[in-house]
Amino acid sequence: DWTMAGYRAEAVRRIREQVGDAKVICGLSGGVDSSVAAVLIHEAIGDQLTCVFVDHGLLRLGEAEEVVTMFRDHYNIPLIHADESELFLGELEGVSDPEVKRKTIGRLFIDVFQKHAAEIGGAEFLAQGTLYPDVIESVSFSGGPSVTIKSHHNVGGLPEKMGLKLVEPLRELFKDEVRALGRELGLPDRFIGRHPFPGPGLAIRCPGEITREKLDILRKADAVYIDQIRKHGLYDEIWQAFVAILPVRTVGVMGDGRTYDFACALRAVTSVDGMTADYYPFTHQFLGETATRIINEVKGINRVTYDITSKPPGTIEWE
Ligand code: XMP
Repeated sequence: DWTMAGYRAEAVRRIREQVGDAKVICGLSGGVDSSVAAVLIHEAIGDQLTCVFVDHGLLRLGEAEEVVTMFRDHYNIPLIHADESELFLGELEGVSDPEVKRKTIGRLFIDVFQKHAAEIGGAEFLAQGTLYPDVIESVSFSGGPSVTIKSHHNVGGLPEKMGLKLVEPLRELFKDEVRALGRELGLPDRFIGRHPFPGPGLAIRCPGEITREKLDILRKADAVYIDQIRKHGLYDEIWQAFVAILPVRTVGVMGDGRTYDFACALRAVTSVDGMTADYYPFTHQFLGETATRIINEVKGINRVTYDITSKPPGTIEWE
């Protein structure tokens, strides 16, 4: 009989067999996948594992603190918190092409990892929370011709360039299975239930040029939106929800003045594995209330739209 407890034991055995007594570094993104991978690998090889959490300046409000606290204090897993926001945002200045953004971020991740792998005295392995759909989507799309839709920076390329071997204990799993494994490993429910968050972070929710101003506005709007979703008890019904800040300013009126601020788009989808998705049918009342809150509480946004595109033909993220 197949059980998650059995899978866990088998995965631990395989990790030990693969790694031996070598050192492993694991990139934590703050998402469920890399967190589950890290906790599983830590169970297998203890302090041979060092986690690196790269703050690329493209994280959500409070995200870095949340992740660092959980891993250091709750799990006692050795963790390097690398604040590299100057580096990433500097290199991304003036970049608006989505693939260039992804490739730039992927390249910088390699640099930062290499630096820290050297610091911990020669890691031989790199651990990644790659899932089955990541493996599939980077090769083909829904059985169609073999084209790359988006460069997922956590798949391929990275370890070869770094001279590291890969440990990918979640490679055969879908998202719901990773969550079940996380529960089995005792990760807090609130953390396991978190919506997926992409490696390139807010960069791909900021179409056009990325600026600190836009990122600040986006972080605030996103926090209000997620707060609304939680307050209405909808968070667990939705597979992923976020705000994208649009590269356009529009005219509005507030009090007795004219405003000329950014427009944003709310996104919320239901999905099983991220490969296909439907937009979430919020009530008009929810949407209206959320728009009002964002415009009142977030300086810099004066227009809110709701994205009703399914995947396909859209993708979940805007880039
Ligand atoms: P798309 O936008 O391709 O996204 O429909 C499907 C799911 O994958 C996430 N995503 C990523 N995750 N690195 C990641 O770790 C990436 O480069 C990346 N791009 C998209 C996205 O958030 C959604 O859950």
